[in-house]
Amino acid sequence: LTGAITLDPGYKNSGSCQSEITFLDGEEGILRYRGYSIEELAEKADFLEVSYLVIFGELPTKDQLTKFENDIRKHTLVNEEMKNIIDGFPKTAHPMGVLSSLTSALTAFNPKPVNVENEKEMYEAVCKTMGKFLVIATWTYRKMKGYPLNYYDNTKGYVENFMRLMFEIPTEPYKMNPIVTNALDKLFILHADHEQNCSTSTVRIVGSSHAGLFASISAGVSALWGPLHGGANQAVLEMLEAIQADGGDAEKYMAKAKDKDDPFRLMGFGHRVYKNFDPRARIIKKAADEVLNDLGVDDPILDIAKKLEAAALVDDYFVSRKLYPNVDFYSGIIYRALGIPTDMFTVMFAIGRLPGWIAQWKEMRLNKEPIGRPRQVYTGYPLREFVPVEKR
Ligand code: SDX
Repeated sequence: LTGAITLDPGYKNSGSCQSEITFLDGEEGILRYRGYSIEELAEKADFLEVSYLVIFGELPTKDQLTKFENDIRKHTLVNEEMKNIIDGFPKTAHPMGVLSSLTSALTAFNPKPVNVENEKEMYEAVCKTMGKFLVIATWTYRKMKGYPLNYYDNTKGYVENFMRLMFEIPTEPYKMNPIVTNALDKLFILHADHEQNCSTSTVRIVGSSHAGLFASISAGVSALWGPLHGGANQAVLEMLEAIQADGGDAEKYMAKAKDKDDPFRLMGFGHRVYKNFDPRARIIKKAADEVLNDLGVDDPILDIAKKLEAAALVDDYFVSRKLYPNVDFYSGIIYRALGIPTDMFTVMFAIGRLPGWIAQWKEMRLNKEPIGRPRQVYTGYPLREFVPVEKR
């Protein structure tokens, strides 16, 4: 593998890991899945094709892709008793909390542990996870809206089904729009994997105790929910709406973001690894223009985002700290144009990231990685004598 770094054997206990799935270079703004550039994949592939690549390591042949899509269809039926679980949530519950719980609950209906070494069993677990996760993710929205929970339509594609499962109501069949499904396909591809980010590391460390795939992904959903991670796409939209309500005064929010006494951060800016432009943000920004134009949507929020980006890119505070727009900065603008409610933005991120979580969990188990056990530097008290309560 050209460019692969080899960690010394001690890496097994260093909290780092070796992986063949995603390569990213934060300085150069490079992102590749299994050696293919994100720019090419976003342009030329579809989401299930990229999911297959990320999970199994190679782009599928036409037959493999057709079989993958059909095998996922065999597993989209969610046990009716899961409805009792979702019924226990209030309508006001955040979809990410519901999704994490429902994902973990899938274990109750699929209790047999996956034998990762058995290719057939692992393939079936992949199809089952891809199929059921999409359905329960849309159920979280339908629960909020009070819509009846619905079922996957095997005559339609994976991304088409997402829109149908979300918005179709018994009195009104959902009208497919290729502009919408193409945009979503691209967005899901751009989120499919991202090396050892917070939620993926969570999936790997939970899976390293040999906890099941659904349990590990449920933990990943919870980690992704945080506003510093996947929850940022919702926080970006809320920030842009606040700026809009405040008369579009971007400078005021830039000042807040720079004020160390103010906990406010410019959401959608900065990254643990990218100290240059996040390549995904570049693609999503272009897609935002195209999608809004194709849909005839004139959203002032997009103009505010561009104004904020332009100001930050010449502001010394952001430039000196190498803070650039990340994947979350523009994605919410497209989701909003597609009619996705803000509360569901991070669920969209989870649907896109699912193949990456599966791939990384599978790789970690096949590599027989030891149970995760990060070490620490102890900074507490030295040994001291016990003092009886009466003497304290
Ligand atoms: C994702 O890891 C991944 O790969 C994640 C992800 C994926 O695909 O899985 O890419 C998805 O999570 C993208 C990030 C989404 N989060 C946000 O947009 C939230 C806003 N950004 C941040 O809070 C922040 O930039 C982080 C969390 C992303 C990174 O945090 P760090 O590592 O603490 O930031 P840093 O060390 O690079 O910060 C350096 C300086 C600090 O100031 P000083 O102490 O030097 O004075 O920059 C400041 C930070 O306070 N800073 C910000 C800022 N981000 C960093 N100041 C204002 N606004 C910001 N957004």
